[in-house]
Amino acid sequence: MTSAGAQSRAAVEVASLGKDFGAFSAVKDISFAVRRGEVLGFLGPNGAGKSTTMKMIAGFLAPTRGQVWVGGYDIDRRPLEAKRCLGYLPEGAPAYADMSVSAFLTFIARMRGYRRRERRSRVAAAVEKANLGSVAYKPIETLSKGFKRRVGLAQAILHDPPILVMDEPTDGLDPNQKHEVRTLIREMARDKAILISTHILEEVDAICDRAIIIAHGRLKFDGTPQQLLCMSSLHNAVRLRFAGNVPADAAARLLDLHGVGRVNQSDEADQLMVLPNNATAIVKQVAQLARAETWQLQELVVESGQLDEVFRRITGPAEAAQRGEPA
Ligand SMILES: Nc1ncnc2c1ncn2[C@@H]1O[C@H](COP(=O)(O)OP(=O)(O)O)[C@@H](O)[C@H]1O
Ligand SMILES: [Mg+2]
Repeated sequence: MTSAGAQSRAAVEVASLGKDFGAFSAVKDISFAVRRGEVLGFLGPNGAGKSTTMKMIAGFLAPTRGQVWVGGYDIDRRPLEAKRCLGYLPEGAPAYADMSVSAFLTFIARMRGYRRRERRSRVAAAVEKANLGSVAYKPIETLSKGFKRRVGLAQAILHDPPILVMDEPTDGLDPNQKHEVRTLIREMARDKAILISTHILEEVDAICDRAIIIAHGRLKFDGTPQQLLCMSSLHNAVRLRFAGNVPADAAARLLDLHGVGRVNQSDEADQLMVLPNNATAIVKQVAQLARAETWQLQELVVESGQLDEVFRRITGPAEAAQRGEPA
């Protein structure tokens, strides 16, 4: 297990990782990989073990069990080589508050071992990428939350690493700032492997190619955001909005259709939600029935599903999470 070449591994590989704090097991047997060109969203409720896992990947915290390879290097045996490949934005984006942005980034560049000229060009490039030009000479403690987060980002990308690990990069930002940071992440994703943690579900849809979900320290799901949506009971459901009230026999007629499992009357008197069995596509049958019955419809919408519903089911009590996800 020790000497697989750097080339043969994914950008980040995590194998049977575990972390105990005393008698408490915060991370239990987690395995996954991140490839170059991929943005992997690391999802889970508060206390799930996201930050602890990321700290172990970044070499900030020694695992109790398991192994991590970053850029093909074992983070425990070859920490310097591994850390050269890696940019890490810790939770809350800590920085030296009394330093100016420029002084802080110069300090980081020095720690990264750059000589004077390269130091300058590295800092200038990071300032530009993170859009920090207007505050470069201000003390970090005087900056808004959004700017502080960008300072953390600039620090993480200063050495243009092929791998980025970012712990809740958009946490606490306003919608415009969130959008900016997400755009930056998407731009960088082309040639990097990026792992971001979040508890914001739309973020997974907005920027991630793949999502993993952990709860109580265990891996519960590993797949695409689309696959996650498919697990929603609303996936492929059809919402009907009638012109006027719902006809008296509509629900019963819809229930007779092949593939339809349930029909819910919504709060509005003019709407029905038609839910399929096992996410079957039912829109065709529903539309045919509506035509045959000459129902007057304002709207007929196929639902893609609701991430929050799936998230709650997967991360809820252990027995509820048995359906659908890989073992
Ligand atoms: N240094 C520590 N000592 C003891 N318990 C810790 C420590 N760090 C984290 N924990 C616990 O481990 C669990 C996972 O925490 P964390 O990884 O921060 O979760 P997340 O980032 O998903 O919110 C939590 O129950 C937390 O209280
Ligand atoms: Mg955390």
